Amino acid sequence: MSHNLLKGKRGIITGALDHNSIAWKIAERAFDEGATFTLSNAPVAMRMGEINKLAEKTNSQIIPADATSVADLENLFSKSIETLGGKIDFVLHSIGMSPNVRKQIPYTQSNYDFFQKSLDVSAISLHKMLSVAMKFDAINEWGSVVALSYIAAQRTFPFYGDMAEAKALLESITRSFGYHYGKFKNVRVNTISQSPTKTTAGSGIKGFEEFFGFAEKMSPLGNASADSCANYCISLFSDLTRMVTMQNLFHDGGYSMMGVNEEMMK
Ligand SMILES: NC(=O)c1ccc[n+]([C@@H]2O[C@H](COP(=O)([O-])OP(=O)(O)OC[C@H]3O[C@@H](n4cnc5c(N)ncnc54)[C@H](O)[C@@H]3O)[C@@H](O)[C@H]2O)c1
Repeated sequence: MSHNLLKGKRGIITGALDHNSIAWKIAERAFDEGATFTLSNAPVAMRMGEINKLAEKTNSQIIPADATSVADLENLFSKSIETLGGKIDFVLHSIGMSPNVRKQIPYTQSNYDFFQKSLDVSAISLHKMLSVAMKFDAINEWGSVVALSYIAAQRTFPFYGDMAEAKALLESITRSFGYHYGKFKNVRVNTISQSPTKTTAGSGIKGFEEFFGFAEKMSPLGNASADSCANYCISLFSDLTRMVTMQNLFHDGGYSMMGVNEEMMK
């Protein structure tokens, strides 16, 4: 159901790889709520071609950008403003990748070139995006930037490897840049810390299926789906949450506040 929460707003949505992607659901919801936006992903991800279906469905243009490349991000912001006919109101950072996790290298034996790549792709890319946006003054007053995080930023989840450090850095950048962008243009910057979700990135983690079931049982509301994450994200892009910034917001059915429950004790 649409409430026109994003009517007249222009956005940039990164990270939609296929219909399971959290970004894919967010794009569909943003479209339903009246937004216009561009879609972006790494040039290599474009080869799968799935994103074309989403672009067609949401009347969006695709602008490829490797999120680690400042030049690509400059092109993304300037082309988005040109295509959409004005400055941007919301940005979704839905990007994560760890070569160490992908290659199932044990955390204690991490390859450090890969480690740096994990941090660059999954966290520093948010800094680069915000820095480019600020340099171009590309985001309207009271605009909203949301990145997706995971609770391994705060607590130990051994299977999550160096992505734990990447998410901790992502959340720290959110606070630090949130301060500067708030002062500069009242732009807010937040992360949503999402439940385990069955996507390409999620399922690439060893033991994901088992952990998904554990989190489902542990959370009083069960795991939050990608669709419900999309709803939450729309609220953060909307004008209803203007005073929320520099936060890491748990969207996890209550998981983050649990110690243990009766079901697990049995
Ligand atoms: N799936 C989960 O369980 C879960 C839980 C919490 C948070 N998250 C986070 O949600 C975000 C989206 O992941 P998802 O689960 O929808 O999986 P996904 O695999 O659908 O999305 C990850 C995206 O990152 C993109 N990407 C990778 N390297 C890139 C680069 N260099 N430049 C630009 N884009 C690049 C991929 O192409 C892909 O579209 C990630 O930040 C992920 O860590 C996922």
